[in-house]
Amino acid sequence: MRHLMSPMDFSVEELERLFDLAASIEQNPAKYAHACEGRILATCFYEPSTRTRLSFESAMTKLGGQVIGFSDAGSSSASKGESVSDTIRVISCYADICAMRHPKEGAPMVAAEKSLIPVINAGDGGHQHPTQTLTDLLTIRSLKGKLGGFTIGLCGDLKFGRTVHSLIKALVRYPDIRFIFISPEELKIPDYITDMLKSKNIAYEEVIRLEQVMPQLDLLYMTRVQKERFFNEEDYIRLKDFYILDKAKMELAGKDMLVLHPLPRVNEISVELDDDPRAAYFRQAKYGVYVRMALILTLLEITV
Ligand code: NCD
Repeated sequence: MRHLMSPMDFSVEELERLFDLAASIEQNPAKYAHACEGRILATCFYEPSTRTRLSFESAMTKLGGQVIGFSDAGSSSASKGESVSDTIRVISCYADICAMRHPKEGAPMVAAEKSLIPVINAGDGGHQHPTQTLTDLLTIRSLKGKLGGFTIGLCGDLKFGRTVHSLIKALVRYPDIRFIFISPEELKIPDYITDMLKSKNIAYEEVIRLEQVMPQLDLLYMTRVQKERFFNEEDYIRLKDFYILDKAKMELAGKDMLVLHPLPRVNEISVELDDDPRAAYFRQAKYGVYVRMALILTLLEITV
């Protein structure tokens, strides 16, 4: 039995197969509409989410399966003191696969150890968010035609943003990628990531001003300042509007540069950009459903 804890759990070849399956689902959804009939997905969300939880639910529903679950810790037995290990033992009796989000780093791994069904890490604290990474990779592959051979700017909260940490880990396996990290000093990318890039001889740059690097970028991955992971409100207020991508800044970018964002957006991308053909973040949300459909089929070992 297989779980998904980190984007590294799949080899590059396995990811190719997963993305081919997602592309096939996009082209011919009717073929997959009954693939999960009689199967149940449990969504166990101990932390708020709109996109991730609903995209999992949408994915399972589009495959003909059913969904059960909870969307906040307060409405689960965690509020009575039940451990994640016990909860998953019980969920294993009710469902065939589980997507779990938890504010504590490593909680889905603890669950996976005791689980009798595949567990998908749907985000653990500031650590990893592998299904967002699968979404990001599928979006890049679909809209750019390839994974590799580009300069990507990652902008915003690079310290607490788990989507950024997962995406970088996954991208280093593809050829010829240059990273530009754009953040205020206080929200810099963690050392363990830059150490990893150095050890692999992968080119990266760290800058504070977005304007200065816009013309070099093929992709710009914007992120929200992660309010819930700040220790004090004052710092959050000072940093929350550090970057606002607007029309004036987009004029500095190439005509094929794409803007990605895992969403939710707060102020970091002005709504005036939503109609710009380079704004890819809502298309990205759509790819999130196809890739989760492909992931559910793969982990349940269902072939259509
Ligand atoms: C991200 C997350 O939860 O880390 N959202 C998502 O799943 N699409 C990004 C964020 O909350 O900023």
